[in-house]
Parts: sequence; C-alpha cells; structure tokens
Amino acid sequence: MAKILVIYDSRTGNTEKMAELVAEGAKRVEGAQVRLKFVEEATKEDLLWCEGLAVGTPTNMGIVSWKLKRFFDDVVGDLWGKIDGKIGCAFSSSGGWGGGSEVACLSVLYMLMNYGFLVFGLTDYVGKKFTLHYGAVVAGEPRSEEEKEACLRLGERLAQYVKAFYHGRLELLEHIRTFGGKFPW
Ligand SMILES: Cc1cc2nc3c(=O)[nH]c(=O)nc-3n(C[C@H](O)[C@H](O)[C@H](O)COP(=O)(O)O)c2cc1C
Repeated sequence: MAKILVIYDSRTGNTEKMAELVAEGAKRVEGAQVRLKFVEEATKEDLLWCEGLAVGTPTNMGIVSWKLKRFFDDVVGDLWGKIDGKIGCAFSSSGGWGGGSEVACLSVLYMLMNYGFLVFGLTDYVGKKFTLHYGAVVAGEPRSEEEKEACLRLGERLAQYVKAFYHGRLELLEHIRTFGGKFPW
C-alpha cells in the first residue's frame, strides 16, 4: 500500500498531461493507490490521506502558480504542523527550456519543506543528457519518450519511497540505487 496524491495547476493543459503521467508512474508500484486532483478540487482530506505528494505547477515567472500558492496558504494552511514527515516532490511545465522550470520546482519544494515534508530529486537519467534532479521538467507538454519517462519515473519513485520509508520495505532502495555514479550516456 502506498497512498499517493498528485495535485496540479494547469491553464492550457501541459502540466495536467505531466500530472497524468506522474500518476500513471506511481501505479507501476504494486499496491499504490493514487488520487489525481486539479488544485481547485483538492481538499484538506486529500492532504491528510496521502503518504506521498507530487505537486505540478506551470512555471509562472519562474515560480509556483498563484493557485497552488493559495492552496498551501489558505486552503490547507491550518494543517501546518500536522502533516510533517510525508514525502514530496515537484514537476513543472514551462514555456521554454531555460524558462525557470527547475526554479519553479524548487519553489514548490520550499513550500513542502515548510510543511515538514521530506522532499527529493532523482539522480536517474531517463534519456541522453536528460535527468530530473529537482523534479520532472518539460517545455510545453510531454511529447518525447524521455519527457514522458521523466514524469513516469517521478511518480514511480515517489511510490517506491513511500513503500520503503512508510511501510518498511527498505529492500526497495537496493533496486533504486542502480546508477552508482556511472553516467549511462
Ligand atoms: C502568468 C504566466 C507566467 C509565465 N511565466 C513563465 C516563465 O517564467 N517561464 C516560462 O518558461 N514560461 C512561463 N509561462 C508559460 C507557461 O509556463 C507554459 O506555457 C506552460 O507550459 C503552461 O502550462 P499549463 O499548460 O499547464 O498551464 C508563463 C505563463 C503564464 C500564464
């Protein structure tokens, strides 16, 4: 069992497509239960329910969208101090490469850290010179196999970490630690 919540904002559908892939990636892990919610539909109960949370934002001026900021400021603000220790990660769609998508991921991770979440990035390379150290990032919508795999892998890793750290399945870490400092490309 791994309870995974994927929350996203999206004005033109790009981050939504990433979110669908992140949710699908979590389902690669046996026993994962996944909720996928547009930020305006997500509730306090969702946040209390989940063990792992992936937050997807369109890159907006290099940071998190105002709807997600409002969600963490106002909608779930009184959960502060009550949801520590959950596992969190981020993903973002920007208008172009270099447009600030990783910075936007960091702004999401800052918010999650403020709530006491344990946040992570991945060392994995999912394609030639293509990785997701601070979360999955895509310019526009995910089209190429490596862009899709970055989103899938993020969700998969989130569910694996929940199983490892919430449910004591530490042997899963052995399968995760396969990169070993050697660049595949
Ligand atoms: C208010 C606003 C601010 C934006 N700021 C940036 C930005 O700083 N960098 C960038 O690359 N794209 C920026 N964009 C473009 C979006 O990040 C991009 O179109 C993204 O793919 C939209 O995702 P969505 O379809 O999920 O809404 C901005 C768009 C809007 C509406």
